[in-house]
Amino acid sequence: MSTPEPTRFARLQQRYRDHDMPWDQALPPPEVIAIAERLPPGRLLDLGCGTGRASLFLAAHGWQSDAVDFVPEAITLAALRVRTAGVTAQVRLHLASVTDLGFLGGPYDLAIDVGCMHGLAGAELHAYTAEVARLVRPAGCYLLFAHLREPDQAGRSGILATTVADHFGATFEFESVEPGVTVVGERRTASVWYTLRRRG
Ligand SMILES: C[S@@+](CC[C@H](N)C(=O)[O-])C[C@H]1O[C@@H](n2cnc3c(N)ncnc32)[C@H](O)[C@@H]1O
Repeated sequence: MSTPEPTRFARLQQRYRDHDMPWDQALPPPEVIAIAERLPPGRLLDLGCGTGRASLFLAAHGWQSDAVDFVPEAITLAALRVRTAGVTAQVRLHLASVTDLGFLGGPYDLAIDVGCMHGLAGAELHAYTAEVARLVRPAGCYLLFAHLREPDQAGRSGILATTVADHFGATFEFESVEPGVTVVGERRTASVWYTLRRRG
């Protein structure tokens, strides 16, 4: 009998257990750091927050954050870092799926997703899309980093180049789309930074 494929959740949880998180640098990416210069502090929704590096950085610049991840090990590490940084009053951590955020009320001035949405598909992606549109205020910002895949690479993590327009075109305007290449070890993956603005 063949062993069933681990679920995406199980794969991600195992990565935290193995400390195999190449994305988990001390600072968030420059695109997140630039937010502190570009926008006045407000309410942040940190989607798939991991160990909380975006929330921690922006909390130091006056932001209030609700940070969500579905892996308990990620939230435990994030809680430790939030306490160590002395920002427990500014960063609220939630062990939950980004596809089911009914416990959050918004409106948020900013939503950030670095590397979470690109693993979602089908009903989960639709649920996520509806939550982001519900929670970001009119004229609020949504900063998204996603890996891309080609249409013939079904089953591989990453979204199609058309996915963001298909899912968010009705509710958000595109402010910028910056394609690039993400290098992790030997692996090179096409990726994009999207900055979207919630329609009024
Ligand atoms: C590549 S990591 C990036 C973490 C963080 N955004 C950062 O930049 O350090 C993606 C994160 O998304 C989380 N994630 C994936 N799917 C999720 C879901 N459905 N709900 C909540 N978190 C999810 C994973 O557990 C993981 O921590």
